Amino acid sequence: MRNHFEVEIYSDSVPLTEAVLSSRIGDADGLLCLVTDPVTERVMEQAPRLKIISNHGVGYDNIDIAAATRRKIAVTNTPGVLTEATADFTWALLLAVARQVVAGDRVVRSGQFHGWDPLFMRGADIVGKTLGIIGAGRIGTAVAERAVGWKMSVLYLNRGRNEYLEQKLNARRVLLPELLSHSDFISIHLPLTPETRHFIGANELAQMKPTAYLINTARGAIIDEQALLKALQDNQIAGAALDVFEHEPALTPGLAELPNVVLAPHLGSATFETRDKMAEIAATNIIRYFQGKKPISIVNPEVLEP
Ligand code: DGY
Repeated sequence: MRNHFEVEIYSDSVPLTEAVLSSRIGDADGLLCLVTDPVTERVMEQAPRLKIISNHGVGYDNIDIAAATRRKIAVTNTPGVLTEATADFTWALLLAVARQVVAGDRVVRSGQFHGWDPLFMRGADIVGKTLGIIGAGRIGTAVAERAVGWKMSVLYLNRGRNEYLEQKLNARRVLLPELLSHSDFISIHLPLTPETRHFIGANELAQMKPTAYLINTARGAIIDEQALLKALQDNQIAGAALDVFEHEPALTPGLAELPNVVLAPHLGSATFETRDKMAEIAATNIIRYFQGKKPISIVNPEVLEP
């Protein structure tokens, strides 16, 4: 970026707030931001020269897209390059929660492992079970593809049909009640929008099998975390594995005390290779824009129309 622009970097380890971003954005022509940076209309009001917001991530619920579009500000993201890493991490969480990997690690480290015992720390089989995918876009599809090795049946919920999943994996598109009541593992891959906020609440959790697990590598607020806490406390479901949180980075009090939950600090795309690719695309999107070329991935292409 320094080869092309005068660059100002926010390097504090504390996430940017709306107030700090508003006070610092000044006369920037472009903004390269993280998925945790709140780029609200108030921020845009403080940046009269701003022409492009390049998000270092695929999800863009941190940006007021309507406000940006009204102001003819281009918004870009980094789809595609993080699909496989996020799907892998979803499986890492699924396996970890089903087979007590993290709890087992704690037992060994704390000196509580006193020898092999047939009834000690049993988990759930994965092979032959049913995987429910909520949101069968790129990442949901990649998660489903990995279920082949475990010989799983795949159910999915999606706005449109995913013919690839149906033909290649024999997956079945179902409505939410069937997915909830028939799946042994449910994995969420929706974007966060006003419609998907609290998509999974008390009512949905009540429809899950008591032996089922919920995995979320999408956005925290898609699950009503208070309702999930209650369902886990009451053993209404078997467990949950969460990479994202409703009030990230804060946790709903009580969640960390539960034995049947695995918690990760938003690591879905966190591999060396993937994060490098995301950074490259985020930077390239801005460079291309100011070279008068179409960015690699634009969320609101209408702003480029004359
Ligand atoms: C994204 O890109 O939206 C992820 O949450 C961060 O990788």
